[in-house]
Amino acid sequence: MMENILVVDDDRSILKSIQMMFEGKYAVTTAEKGGEAQKRIQDREPDLVLLDIGLPDMSGMDLLAEIRRTNPEIVVVMITGADEASTVVKAMKLGAYDYLVKPLDGQEIKITLQNALENRRLKDRIRRIQQANGERYSLELVGKSEKLKNVMTTARNAAKSVDTPLLLTGESGTGKGLLARVVHYRYSDLPGPFVTVNCTAITHELFESEIFGYERGAFTGARAEGKKGRFEAAADGTLFLDEIGSMSLSTQAKLLGVLEDRAFYRVGGSKAVRVSARIIAASNMDLEKAVEEGRFRKDLFFRLNVVKVELPPLRERPDDIVPLTEYFVKTHNEKTGKKFARTSPEAMKVLQDYSWPGNVRELRNAIERVVLLEDGDELLPGHLSFIRPGQGGTRAPGADFSGELDYAETIKGLIREALRRSRGNVLEAARLLKMPPHKMRYRIKKYDLGN
Ligand SMILES: Nc1ncnc2c1ncn2[C@@H]1O[C@H](COP(=O)(O)OP(=O)(O)OP(=O)(O)O)[C@@H](O)[C@H]1O
Ligand SMILES: [Mg+2]
Repeated sequence: MMENILVVDDDRSILKSIQMMFEGKYAVTTAEKGGEAQKRIQDREPDLVLLDIGLPDMSGMDLLAEIRRTNPEIVVVMITGADEASTVVKAMKLGAYDYLVKPLDGQEIKITLQNALENRRLKDRIRRIQQANGERYSLELVGKSEKLKNVMTTARNAAKSVDTPLLLTGESGTGKGLLARVVHYRYSDLPGPFVTVNCTAITHELFESEIFGYERGAFTGARAEGKKGRFEAAADGTLFLDEIGSMSLSTQAKLLGVLEDRAFYRVGGSKAVRVSARIIAASNMDLEKAVEEGRFRKDLFFRLNVVKVELPPLRERPDDIVPLTEYFVKTHNEKTGKKFARTSPEAMKVLQDYSWPGNVRELRNAIERVVLLEDGDELLPGHLSFIRPGQGGTRAPGADFSGELDYAETIKGLIREALRRSRGNVLEAARLLKMPPHKMRYRIKKYDLGN
């Protein structure tokens, strides 16, 4: 894909000549003023900014400082006058990659920009590798229950055959997203990346262009150079279809076709592209029930359901609570600089007696909250007063209206009831409460209500 360059200079002849010089090689945009440049940077996120030190409305130096702060991944090359040598030193200290001195020399511009972009690509790669390693490091299914061990064994075995799709089910917060990454980063040795498609967030209209990509000029508004879809981005890696249960029926039909043919066409394209990614799908909805009710295609269900791994709710594997608590205390200590060394037996009992309707996510959030707000070296029951035993998924909505009204609890109750009436259909539940669907989804996540 063509790299994006923004040239900022109040001298139009410079803008023109640079634009001509790189036509067809880089996508060049220009700005004559600092304010205009700021806008372009936000809109286009250029790979490189070529920046004149003296601008009519602001100092190029200030703009440089701002870019370093807001978009540190952009490489900046300064343009200075011959008499501004001292400012060059300052610019380099502020993080400019290189500089060019006026009058500009064509050959020099080319070489300087080539080097700068090369440097950016390298940095990009390093960052990606570090990210992957960082993920790899924290990618761990903590727990010692038999149930979790079985999950790991099944997933590890399934990981061996790349062509077999994997279906992960379980309530919200049980670790489906984590397990998908563990399968990719630890249990397999795939050279390609891990790519997620959140099926809740994607409309049918967007689905094709997002998932399959498009050829240049495929439709109005398409980027001139075309775009790779997620299927292609996940080549030789893993395509993780999260929340597959919320995919519309027409989109399901489309996906089924691709899985059957193991190939697809880009929008506006005529060449079939082979699917080389492993498919992992996840759902916190009961897909069998969705099939019975006609909300999920039976044939797609069978295609995905070759190997199913069910993540049990945390309340069914109490043996995991101690190791998970210790693990979250340790990681949150590290993040916050706190020094909790142990959890008192009484506090552990509070944690073990609670039903954790939001599963591991809720436990993680609870520990995070304690480590953040409290001090000391021992986690005590007093720190956990926000957990009320017996509280959780089973309470009837509105049952607690006798005493003080608690906003969060009330909303939670209403959402639970709406989800129950809509049998877990989020859109329907949102309609029942006259709540915009995006707010509904946000609150379901926030209060750990999905399943
Ligand atoms: N066994 C585990 N060990 C360590 N961390 C875990 C474990 N299970 C879940 N987690 C953590 O709990 C949080 C919730 O897990 P995850 O996002 O994978 O759940 P999910 O099943 O995908 O939920 P949802 O259906 O809401 O998307 C994450 O931060 C995850 O890292
Ligand atoms: Mg998830």
